Amino acid sequence: MASLQFSFTALSSAPKPRSSRLPGRSHRSQISCSGDGGGGIDRRNMLLGLGGLYGAGSSLGRKAEALPILPPDLSTCDPTGATTTRRVGDKQEVVKLDVNCCPPFTDKQGDYKLPVFTKLRRRQSAHRLSPANLAKYKKAMAKMRELDVTDPDDPRGFTQQANIHCAYCNGPYDQVGHPGVDLQVHNSWTFFPFHRWYLYFYERILGELIGDPTFALPYWNWDNPRGMSMPMAFDDPSSSLYDEDRNQAHRRPAVVDLALNSGITDPVQLISNNLALMYKEMVSDVETAVDFLGTEYRAGDDPHAFALGGTSERGSHTGIHAWVGDPRNDLKEDMGNFYSAGRDPIFYCHHANVDRMWTIWDKIPASYSKKVDDDDFKNSSFMFYDEKKNLVRVKISDCLDHRKLGYEYEYSDTPWINSRPPQRAVPANLKELAKGLPTADKVFPLKLVKTVKFLVPKPAKGKADEALLLENIVTDNSKLIKFDVFINDEDDKPDELDRAEYVGSFTQLPHRVKGKESVNNLRLNLREVYENINIADDDAVVITIVPLISGDAVTIGGIKIIRRRPRK
Ligand code: C2O
Repeated sequence: MASLQFSFTALSSAPKPRSSRLPGRSHRSQISCSGDGGGGIDRRNMLLGLGGLYGAGSSLGRKAEALPILPPDLSTCDPTGATTTRRVGDKQEVVKLDVNCCPPFTDKQGDYKLPVFTKLRRRQSAHRLSPANLAKYKKAMAKMRELDVTDPDDPRGFTQQANIHCAYCNGPYDQVGHPGVDLQVHNSWTFFPFHRWYLYFYERILGELIGDPTFALPYWNWDNPRGMSMPMAFDDPSSSLYDEDRNQAHRRPAVVDLALNSGITDPVQLISNNLALMYKEMVSDVETAVDFLGTEYRAGDDPHAFALGGTSERGSHTGIHAWVGDPRNDLKEDMGNFYSAGRDPIFYCHHANVDRMWTIWDKIPASYSKKVDDDDFKNSSFMFYDEKKNLVRVKISDCLDHRKLGYEYEYSDTPWINSRPPQRAVPANLKELAKGLPTADKVFPLKLVKTVKFLVPKPAKGKADEALLLENIVTDNSKLIKFDVFINDEDDKPDELDRAEYVGSFTQLPHRVKGKESVNNLRLNLREVYENINIADDDAVVITIVPLISGDAVTIGGIKIIRRRPRK
């Protein structure tokens, strides 16, 4: 059982004026886009570009002050603060969501102490869930739903649990000490740890409701062909695990399409695409820890000014959300929009696999360190109600090893690990390919209304260690958005992502932002892509961008190929 130390009541230090933090932001320069191995964008410059909040006088070399993300102050949660945006004609409009996602308030709160356990709870893959465990799960979910009716203020009820997600990503909280700056757990390195803790308490609450501390959530094994359809357990309309608000065309036996390319119906192609995407986001696109985890996010950072989630968050994670969300709903509820995603029981099963991906990535041998040695990361914290309704503060550092949280994952094969696309024997003939094509500088800024093809110069010839950078991607936040990027593609088969020429994708779930559009950068590593396409000794490449969903809601500011610094 959790033993609590009620050692603090005020979670924040006194609010600091924004300007007082500025000198500490010199660490930003570590992620400039000129040849880095990190996030690939210079957020300080981006912020400058977005209104000059930050002066150029940051003192390089000075030790940065501690800037962990502080847990929210529940007493300041705005019950009408959840909003989303919608495009009306040419303008973006903030629309209030008819939902109060604030949790019940109590000032009795404390640091969470991990309970002692003797045996790890074992999360099973949903398609192999034993009948006994399924029965427990359904019973626990039914009890959780019951609380909505019998005691809507019980923080363990299903709606309350769902609202946690809305609260941490739809804006009812400002960051403590930074009025007007949203608290947002997505699109950065808080993504994996936040959701790990969220599921941890959700699972323990379900166990508590049926008096079974061994209860473990199943995971939706969508990275394995056997799990690439909606798990049966969730597709039974009479079950407590069912949700009506899903894409009806994607119920069983439809095959998951992580690439969201609705034109493809051949299940073999879909599975092959899925495996190719998994390989990229777990292996070949990841060359630093933040590539996978997401970029840094510190106190005071505006989460909408730089959004760059990790490969897994942007890829399979977002893919499943969008694939399950109901197109009959304006905002693609439930799974297709952050504010409502937690209302679908399948959300937690999906996120168990997202969490499992973190544990698997951690063990894939790599040339870079998997550890993020940064105190702001480790000390960032969140608030949750535990299974006994205690309000507790948890830190990222305490969740980095999932076994310390008392659970493990049943093994399931990961066939994507061998899904590197076949290499081309003969390089593309660039002269032929480039005939009549414009160069990139003639094309950008680009409104993505149709497929475009253009020439991009390379800093070095041939197989250099380079990355493709798409800059200032301005998106309408109310839209589901997806586009794909190909290189030296002679065949023009945009449906086939299991080919050497596929470079990567941009995907955005509809989400909320305070009255403005989001600005993103997308960096795609090219080193392995160059090997795959067996690039000739060329000093340029042909890039193709294929809009799949809502291209008209995207403007891309520029594109270039940058040299990456040699890794240590
Ligand atoms: Cu918090 Cu899957 O999103």
